[in-house]
Amino acid sequence: MKNILKFDNVTHIYHTVRGEVVAAKGLSFSVDEGEFVAIIGPSGCGKTTLLSLAAGLLKPSAGSIERRGSYGYMLQKDELFSWRTIEKNIFLPLEIRKQNTPQARKRALGLAEKYGLKDFLKSYPAQLSGGMRQRAALIRTLATDPDVLLLDEPFSALDYQTRLNVCEDVSNIIRSEKKTALLITHDISEAISLADRILVLTARPARVSHSHALDFGDIPPLKRREQPTFSGWFEELWRELNA
Ligand SMILES: Nc1ncnc2c1ncn2[C@@H]1O[C@H](COP(=O)(O)OP(=O)(O)OP(=O)(O)O)[C@@H](O)[C@H]1O
Ligand SMILES: [Mg+2]
Repeated sequence: MKNILKFDNVTHIYHTVRGEVVAAKGLSFSVDEGEFVAIIGPSGCGKTTLLSLAAGLLKPSAGSIERRGSYGYMLQKDELFSWRTIEKNIFLPLEIRKQNTPQARKRALGLAEKYGLKDFLKSYPAQLSGGMRQRAALIRTLATDPDVLLLDEPFSALDYQTRLNVCEDVSNIIRSEKKTALLITHDISEAISLADRILVLTARPARVSHSHALDFGDIPPLKRREQPTFSGWFEELWRELNA
């Protein structure tokens, strides 16, 4: 498999009026094409920084980042615009990137229909459930057909029940659209239920302390949670995260 994203010995330093904050140091990892990688790490360790670097929104202070393909990201809070309909929200990245062609709109609408938003295209975000809004935000991210999806705690605003369902949806969408995904989460169970591989980060400055390939194969998230090896993974990752 080919790397689509590669961090090599990356350091990132924020310069502020009160001094320097080293958010990442000696950070190295790679993601293969088509892989679903989850990243877990302690609060404030530099996860969002890592994702912003991967998105090309920040330049590393040292080290190198190789990126191939196009990137779409979905941030910590879903930010559908309340004054735009779901359809208009989904078209927004196309407008911004000047890709607002009839074919691109058709493709985006096709995704919205395929993933259960057909009857809500003319609705406003406030008229949808939290889970549906999250799905709409993901479809908006997919509208430009990015090769790599960068997801920063996309489910953190949802209640537990909704979260389980949205995870199921998101996993299904990402896998059926054959996207590469890099998901940041602080939820160990979520990481185990979704990913092909999990990277564990140290406390700030972030670097990778462990990398685990999971062995569940093509099983959807809720089914994974029922597997006998699930709790073993949880315990191991818990230990590493709290070491
Ligand atoms: N724009 C910025 N300017 C200065 N410091 C920053 C900036 N963004 C983040 N930091 C600092 O860098 C460190 C890492 O922040 P980051 O947001 O990447 O952590 P995180 O792991 O995503 O945290 P959380 O778990 O709360 O989401 C923190 O100490 C934070 O205060
Ligand atoms: Mg963060």
